[in-house]
Amino acid sequence: MKKILITGGAGFIGSHVVRRFVTTYPEYHIFNLDALTYAGNLENLRDIENSANYTFVKGDIVDAVFLDELFSEHDFYGVIHLAAESHVDRSITDPMAFVMTNVIGTANLLNAAKKSWKDNLAEHLFYHVSTDEVYGELHDPNEFFLETTKYDPRSPYSASKASSDHLVRAYHNTYKMPVVISNCSNNYGPNHFPEKLIPLMINNILNNKPLPVYGKGENIRDWLFVEDHARAIDVIFHKGKNGETYNIGGHNEWKNIDLVKLLCQIMDEKLNRPEGTSARLIHYVTDRAGHDLRYAIDATKLKTELGWVPSLQFAEGLEKTVNWYLANQEWLDNITSGAYSHYYEEMYDGR
Ligand code: NAD
Ligand code: DAU
Repeated sequence: MKKILITGGAGFIGSHVVRRFVTTYPEYHIFNLDALTYAGNLENLRDIENSANYTFVKGDIVDAVFLDELFSEHDFYGVIHLAAESHVDRSITDPMAFVMTNVIGTANLLNAAKKSWKDNLAEHLFYHVSTDEVYGELHDPNEFFLETTKYDPRSPYSASKASSDHLVRAYHNTYKMPVVISNCSNNYGPNHFPEKLIPLMINNILNNKPLPVYGKGENIRDWLFVEDHARAIDVIFHKGKNGETYNIGGHNEWKNIDLVKLLCQIMDEKLNRPEGTSARLIHYVTDRAGHDLRYAIDATKLKTELGWVPSLQFAEGLEKTVNWYLANQEWLDNITSGAYSHYYEEMYDGR
């Protein structure tokens, strides 16, 4: 059985990647390494947590000694690295947390893999999951981010992710470590932590709270359903070319304010509220510092070389997402009340 280490598997995207690999590949044993920060939630994986080919490991990628021990205990065939501090607003208030996990943590992981794989490096793979934010922002509506676009990170979050991308490429170039990197646009879907735009708006609409739109709401993001991202990661892990970078995106650009209004409309219908009720909650608030104007991915390389295209139209994906949040209000309440942190103790205490 090939052992694969997925980091950050208790988070939003990581949990979808772990589920996909555990259920699609019984011939792999999936190890989910996660520190269970505020963003890590084992409830996301309740449905697969007892699978024979799944093991959860609680640990911090900032701890190099722990990682060395883990890699000497298990001969991992590959790593899919998603663990990160991921929220731009938090990076503005606490940049060092992002430097620690995203930069130092990635370097630690590369070092642990390099030491463990030294005798047959070429037979392994380090897959680094990154973001389109490393490319900076776009102004010209006809421009898109390509794999060759110059790096221009503009927030502490994107600078820390850019830094980790550079480290991964440096280990490929210097030590010949087999690597692939993907840079994806904004994800949405089930299990998205309610500090991010879409789940925050759904949660606030549910609770009749103000909907904080930054600045004039004119910033543009390119939204991709999270399961499509997980499928892209699967395709790139298995078919991606050593040393290559692949951009992943939805070809689905939305101005924030238009997206928030659409969510208000959908939620009014679902909650049987008179049309326009939720939109009255919209509040324009002070803009995010250094707020990137527009992200938009050109995913042609992934389509032509590896045959991946998004499977869901946005209307369908948003409908699925809203339905999931309405059916899983306990998940939201547990997060907003902080109670989900007890889940780990209950599940794993004494094991
Ligand atoms: P998330 O914040 O939901 O999850 C991050 C996970 O990493 C959590 O489970 C957390 O506990 C874990 N983690 C954090 N610090 C850790 C540490 N020091 N050691 C071990 N585990 C740690 O993030 P997400 O939105 O699922 O993003 C996952 C990855 O995908 C990140 O690398 C992010 O940069 C990238 N990405 C995200 C998006 C998006 O739209 N969310 C888009 C493109 C790329
Ligand atoms: O592009 C990929 C990136 O997308 C990922 O790398 C990040 O991990 C992920 O968090 C996301 O970053 P964004 O900053 O684009 O996502 P966020 O949901 O925080 O914000 C989306 C847009 O909505 C952005 O323009 C800011 C705006 N916004 C956000 C919040 C939370 C608001 O107007 N109000 C809000 O309350």
